[in-house]
Amino acid sequence: MTKKPTFYVTTPIYYPSGKLHIGHAYTTIAADAIARFKRFCGYDVRFLTGTDEHGEKIQKKAQEANKTEIEFLDEQIADIKALWKKLEISNDDFIRTTEPRHEKAIQKIFTKLYEQGDIYKGEYEGNYCVPCESFWTESQMIDGNKCPDCGRETTLVKEESYFFRLSKYEDRIRDLFENGNFVEPESRKNEMIKNFLDPGLEDLSVTRTSFDWGVKVPFDEKHVIYVWIDALCNYITALGYMGEDDTKYKTYWPANVQLVAKEIVRFHTIIWPAVLMALDLPLPEKVFGHGWILFADDKMSKSKGNIVYPGPMVERYGVDALKYFLLREFSFGQDGSYTHRNFVNRINSDLVNDLGNLVSRSISMVEKYNNGILEKNDSTTEFDESLIETYKEARKDFEEHMNTLMFHEALESVWKFVRRTNKYIDETTPWILAKDPENKEVLNKVLYNLCESIRLISALISSLLPHTSEEIFKRLSITGNEELTNWESSNEFGLLASGTKVQKGELLFPRLDVEEEISILENLFAERIVDQESTNDEKIEEEKELEHKETITIDDFDKVELRVGRVIECEKHPKADRLLVSKIKLGSEIRQIVSGIAQWYSPEDMVGKDVVVVCNLKPVKLRGVESQGMILAAGDDGDDLVIPQAIGAKSGAEVR
Ligand code: ME8
Ligand code: MG
Repeated sequence: MTKKPTFYVTTPIYYPSGKLHIGHAYTTIAADAIARFKRFCGYDVRFLTGTDEHGEKIQKKAQEANKTEIEFLDEQIADIKALWKKLEISNDDFIRTTEPRHEKAIQKIFTKLYEQGDIYKGEYEGNYCVPCESFWTESQMIDGNKCPDCGRETTLVKEESYFFRLSKYEDRIRDLFENGNFVEPESRKNEMIKNFLDPGLEDLSVTRTSFDWGVKVPFDEKHVIYVWIDALCNYITALGYMGEDDTKYKTYWPANVQLVAKEIVRFHTIIWPAVLMALDLPLPEKVFGHGWILFADDKMSKSKGNIVYPGPMVERYGVDALKYFLLREFSFGQDGSYTHRNFVNRINSDLVNDLGNLVSRSISMVEKYNNGILEKNDSTTEFDESLIETYKEARKDFEEHMNTLMFHEALESVWKFVRRTNKYIDETTPWILAKDPENKEVLNKVLYNLCESIRLISALISSLLPHTSEEIFKRLSITGNEELTNWESSNEFGLLASGTKVQKGELLFPRLDVEEEISILENLFAERIVDQESTNDEKIEEEKELEHKETITIDDFDKVELRVGRVIECEKHPKADRLLVSKIKLGSEIRQIVSGIAQWYSPEDMVGKDVVVVCNLKPVKLRGVESQGMILAAGDDGDDLVIPQAIGAKSGAEVR
């Protein structure tokens, strides 16, 4: 037997610090779809996911929950694994960065990099903003020593640290960006060049001494290896790199595709390849940075209470419906907004109407007109050729889009054929053919073509909607029949045997009442936010005593001029990752405002928002760019941030 080609796909390793929402599940569902598809096409696939378990944040969460780190983590990981099981994720491995196989390998990697001079000991000195957990340089700070993000005073901190010589790899990384398709989509590549490569790469601090929940530097135990070297290398330690048995590493590395969302593209396309270069290892073929799933235009997050969880969705609609929606509704490279209405409409139109109807109409007609028996004969209709041609095109497009991770287009290619097949029913009008016994042969051929079409549809979608596909095969009595259900078989129209008995079943997807379903969904998640989701951190937040400021009079308040402004343009600050520069229209006036929101909002997210602006704040320069006012934002330190919006108010209106 010839050896199968290999295919290695990874997701980010998730922070196990709370329940995962459909945004998190999106990456894993996409990775699962590609893994299943490649297996279906005959590849020897390795699909890795896992958890990123070190760092100060996890340590704090465990303390807050009154647990040891490992106790806290074990519970979280059990939940995550249960979720992947529920979503029927077909990962071949699950790596936890607290496993010895990972920790030992990380120590070896660190030592190797140190011994060869790619890691050196230095001193990290900087002005540290404690609430923001960030270091700032003098030129970055406001008024000499204030944090440019939150405006609070920073403290000068000196910390011994090991550094990775990232700067050494700048030219090679630039080459990587400029030649070929290492980073996709294209827009992310340009962002990286402009924001990180053009300003120049600096060496990276890779250890900390301020906390100890991490992999210790083996030759200097007061240091723990900080996030990125630890987390990024999971993709190779999971394969046994620097471990006792590296067969898997030899078989599967380099990865064919690594999926991440846009906020961590930088780490995966700059730091990660540099680490691999330093280790003299081949680079992954592709890093794909997909967009965010937003909920009412905000990044979905627990602290905003705008969250949709995959578990209840699967319980109510089935795993195929959720997967279909996520992969079909959003364009994989771009941000997309989740709404209950879009979900319900999508299920009704594509799964209930298009596919569900096609299958139930076709099977019932075979039952009604030919006792459930398929008959293949030589008759033809004038519509057959176009049907078969449309199929060929659909399969070709489907394959191409799957291979470029354009899942929404892959599904659309199949659905074009689904709709074409429904049209074939209207064109051939079997119910009219059935009236005249002379048309019996033609009628049977039409019914055959319909069932053959749904066999092919079912084969194409089998890696994306496995249950639906299985159910369709069952109705065609070909469950488990490789020759009629595998990828090769999807290349040929006309394989179903004459005499095949079809079976009626329940509706594939029940029709949803749009308004009723939306209100069910609203209740489902509203309840969860209050009841079940008030786990540790949220409870602590809810109960936190507020530190109130001094009371002011209405006259004091009146001094603050608050107005509604519409964001008409927005771009990244040329020198600061955390800042966005917005042009805001206030009545007829246009202001430029710099805000520390880039971690939560992209420039595209901001454009079109009606925000509340403090207009009479003295203008300041933030890292060289003038800011004429401030946008109001909400969120405690370390939380995700929300920008309140004055939806429906006029630009320039006073906020009182
Ligand atoms: O960043 N829309 O872990 P993390 C789309 N541990 N995708 C989303 C999403 C949303 N609203 N929210 C989360 C980390 N994701 C690090 C990664 S890798 C060596 C270390 C997905 O738990 C998306 O894939 O914060 C994102 O990159 C990932 O969850 C990050 O999850
Ligand atoms: Mg994150």
